[in-house]
Parts: sequence; C-alpha cells; structure tokens
Amino acid sequence: MCGIVGYIGPRNVKDVVVGGLAKLEYRGYDSAGVAALADGNIRIVKAVGRLANLEEKLAQMPISGHVAIGHTRWATHGKPSDENAHPHQDCSGRFAIVHNGIVENYLSLREELVALGHEFRSETDTEVVAHLIEEMYNGDLFETMIAVGKRIRGAYALVVMAKDHPDEMIAIRRASPMIIGLGEKENFVASDIPAILEYTRDIYVMEDGEMAVLRRDGVECFTMDGEPVKKEVYHVTWDAVSAERGGYPHFMLKEIHEQPRAVRDTLRGRVSDDLSRVELPELGLAEEDIRAIDRIHIVACGTSWHAGLVGKAAIETFARIPVNVEIASEYRYADPIVTDRTLILAITQSGETADTLAAMREMKKRGVRVVAITNVVGSSAAREADSTIVTWAGPEIAVASTKAYTTQLVALYLLAVRFGLARGTLAEEKAREVLAALDDLPQVVEQVLDTAPQIESFAKRYKDAHDTFFIGRGMDYAVSLEGALKLKEISYIHAEAYAAGELKHGTLALITDGVPVIALAMQPELYEKTLSNIVEVKARGAFVLGLTWVGNEDLEKTVDEVIYLPKTMPLLAPVAAVIPLQLLAYYAAVARGNDVDKPRNLAKSVTVE
Ligand code: AGP
Repeated sequence: MCGIVGYIGPRNVKDVVVGGLAKLEYRGYDSAGVAALADGNIRIVKAVGRLANLEEKLAQMPISGHVAIGHTRWATHGKPSDENAHPHQDCSGRFAIVHNGIVENYLSLREELVALGHEFRSETDTEVVAHLIEEMYNGDLFETMIAVGKRIRGAYALVVMAKDHPDEMIAIRRASPMIIGLGEKENFVASDIPAILEYTRDIYVMEDGEMAVLRRDGVECFTMDGEPVKKEVYHVTWDAVSAERGGYPHFMLKEIHEQPRAVRDTLRGRVSDDLSRVELPELGLAEEDIRAIDRIHIVACGTSWHAGLVGKAAIETFARIPVNVEIASEYRYADPIVTDRTLILAITQSGETADTLAAMREMKKRGVRVVAITNVVGSSAAREADSTIVTWAGPEIAVASTKAYTTQLVALYLLAVRFGLARGTLAEEKAREVLAALDDLPQVVEQVLDTAPQIESFAKRYKDAHDTFFIGRGMDYAVSLEGALKLKEISYIHAEAYAAGELKHGTLALITDGVPVIALAMQPELYEKTLSNIVEVKARGAFVLGLTWVGNEDLEKTVDEVIYLPKTMPLLAPVAAVIPLQLLAYYAAVARGNDVDKPRNLAKSVTVE
C-alpha cells in the first residue's frame, strides 16, 4: 500500500508533490521519490527511508517544471533501497512511472522484456511496466497505455509521464485506490484525498478499470478500452486529519474495515486461477524439503502468537506435521529440541519484535531453517529469515493489531495447503474446496463488518464491566484469546479467554450475576459441547453474547444476545469470528474515552526484551 501523487499545473511541483506525499506517508515509508519534466527532460530524485531523506536530497538536487509525479513506498517486491524506490523508468528514460499495487505477472513479463534486450535497474514488479510502455509505444501515449493495461495483471494505481508528452500525464486504476483532484488550470492525481486537500475539495473517484488523461485545462476519463466515461464530481468535506484516516475517527477502525482488501491482497497471485494449487515461490522450499519436515515450531508474541494457534490447527489438519506454538520470550531461553528436520515459522507483523528476532537468531545459529511471516518487507525478520512470506495488509498504524492478524491467518492457511499437497496428506479435491473457501473470504469479511452496529450497542451497554470472559472450543478458543487481548489492550477492561471445557475446573467461580461472557460457537462439530458450557455460565447468572453461524438459531434459546456470522469452512471461521471481537474492543474503548490508536503502556513494535 504505497502513496502516489501527480500534478500538472503552474505551482511549484516540488511543494505540491512532496507536500502531498507527506500526507500519504502513513501508507508506506520505505523509500520516496519524485520525477519532474522540465525543458524536455525528466529529472528523477529518490531516496531510501522516510520522506525527510528525499527532502534532503532535493535540497541538493532541486526539481522544477509543471508536470511531476511522486511516490512513497511500502515495499512488496524488492527490499527498501534507492534502486527499488519509485519513480521507475525504461531504458531510454523517456517514460517515468509510479505505482501502488502488485503486478502479478511481472516475472513472466520481465523474462520476455529481458529477452528483447531491456535492462532492469531494480527488483521491483513496477519497473516491468516502464519497459513494457517503452516496448509497446507507438507515438500515442493514450493508446499505448490501453495496450499495456491489457498485458499487466494484478492491482495497480499507476501514473505515467513522458518526455514527448509534456502537457499530459496518464493514470490507470485497477483495484488499488485512486482519486483525481480537479483545479483551475491545474489537476492532481493521488492514492488518497489527504494529498490534495490543501488545493481542492472537488475530486473524481476513479473506479476499477478506469483511466484518466490529465492536462492543465482538464481531465478526461475513459474505460481501460478507451471508451469515454462521464465522472461525477465529489465534494470532500473532511478535515485534513480525518482524511489521513480515510474519514474514520481512528486508524484502528479504518484498519478493521480494510480487512476485505487486505485478505484479497494477501491471496493475490498465490492461488492458481483454477483454485487447485498454492503458489508460494518465495518460500524457497522444494517438494522434498517440505516432505522432509518432521516438526514445526511457530514462534511469536502477542497477537501473532494467537495467529500461530490457528496456523497449528490448519497445518496439522492439512499437512499432518506436529506443530508447537511457542511464546518467543520463553522459547529463546528454553533450549528447545530441534533437528535439521524442524522448521521454524516466526510470525511478526512489524518484523522488529526483539523476542521473536532473538528466537530466530538462536535457531539460525543451530542451523535450523527459519521462515518468517511478516507484514514489513525489509524488516529485520524479513532480512534475517531464510525465506519470508509477506502478508500484504499494508501499514498497520494502530497499536492494536487487526488486519495483520487476519492476513497472518490467510498466509498460514496457504502454507498449510501448500504443505498438504506436497506431502500428499491433502487430497486435491479437498484442496480445491479449501482454496475456493479462501477465495470467498474477502466477501465473507465484508458481510461480517455489517454486524458493527449491533456490536457497538453491546459495547456501549457493557463498557463499565470490570471483568469479561471469552469462551470457545478448538479454533474458537484460539480466537477467544485474541478477543480478550484486544479488549484488554485498548479498553483496559480485565478480560480472560478460556477453553470452554476448562471453566468448571476453577474459573467458573468468577462467574456471577451479570458478568459478560462472550461465547464463540462457530465450530459445528464442537457446538453441542460448547452449548453445554454456555449453559454452565448462564446458570451462574452470566450475560452471554453468543457468536455463531447464520442459520444456527438454536443458540438463541440459551444466550442473551446472538451475533450471526456468514458461514464458511470451520477451519477458516477464525477470520470471520475475530472481527466482531475487534469491533467490541474498539467500541468499548471509544465509549470509555480511551486513546484507541495509542493505548497506554504499549508500543506498536516491542523492540526491547
Ligand atoms: C497486538 O495488538 C499487540 N500490538 C501486540 O501483542 C503484538 O501483536 C506483539 O507485540 C507482536 O508484534 P509483532 O507481530 O509485530 O511481532
């Protein structure tokens, strides 16, 4: 999730473009760059790291002109570096492009272009597009971009400028967000509204499969086949601060609502079109390597550790490999029993958590293979692991992890299916069923988000609770742990999660009149057992909010309130079930007036022991 800005007009292009990037830096801060067209030349300045590094360089190497594009990067393909920073150019330097998204078929296009003599300067998927434009250019930039759009697959918001077309720039959109800012004798393009709010409040929201030609005196919009499109002007009323949060009051709520996109992006290009195979080339494991694994140790902290619990169930079910889920701060000092047939899976959103890194380093010292599942390309975990699976959730700003958790689950499901097929422990037909259910997950998550009003009303009624208990069996227990952590860390309500069958061995003593209990009943095979545990807490006076699948009205007979969630494959149900718990924590924290995005005593990345 990068940030792009483009401008054509009389203002100082550096101020407009770099100023706009500063408003989009929450989208990615691995590197930044600008390209400006003046006197028939395209001048590019880019720098690894925060935008400040680019500004420093621009002080030495100023840009000018009246057409410019800029980019702030969230690395997906290629580590954070000057070479991988955008804008990217073709061999001749006639074209410059910035891109937000993922070009899925970049590897095959790159091979084709290299065979045609193109020389690449970066590891990025994006640079492929610059060379493709060069290769397909027929003197008409508009027609060329239509042709290029037919060759590239994936998600992209892309802006191109060309030496030979100094009075225009072209923007194309598929899946990744893009808006056009409309001005007097000037026009803007950007990934998001904050970048242009200082200059205009009139925008076009570009729809999927649309392109725009921006000139000083106007903007024309078309389909990707070149058919004209009449666009509605949308007048933005947001203030600058809320704009950065996309109009949401907090980053946490924004990130909760980004989960359909985050899940879709994490699946993107990793499931074959016929939903029969998982493609994880970045894993770097051959079939025989996967078959040789006899034990997996998942190592993580906090929410990532909770994701590991779901990963254990998926891997043991599909690949029949025994999995330990280890708390990193314990594991690093535990002298664990590992062999060269053990695989370490280190899960970490930030990629910088000290305990997880230390556990990884300890295992690498012992010659054990370490795979990282992280959300930050270029992080220490990504750099130090033998191989890395990136969760494409985009930057997670709020301390309370939400979209990173659901994308970690998706990465673990993909890995479990990959391993199961390689080891012959998962039948092809079953694999298709799982991959079809995974493919439906973004829609399922969309539907789950519709339960927000019901959860908000529950949270407002229970915001003053002193204790809250979460119960569930199997995967529901794993999700309960995450629900309790979310509630604790931002609402400051004391919360405990329990395997539902364990309550009667002590904790049931804490259940008294009106104590809120959140009961997860999303696993049909365990439903009867879970129900009997719910009856136990009801008998002691608990107020029970039940979560179950649509159609299971039987639960209403026992609990006080029910949240119905779309039915999906039981093993995938954690992705749906966790979202109401994220929302519960959020609305309870808001109702208690807490600083939701920056809760007390906590940090987004715990880089100390
Ligand atoms: C979760 O909301 C917390 N921010 C925290 O528990 C977090 O999951 C933990 O610190 C691990 O962080 P990581 O995934 O970046 O390694």
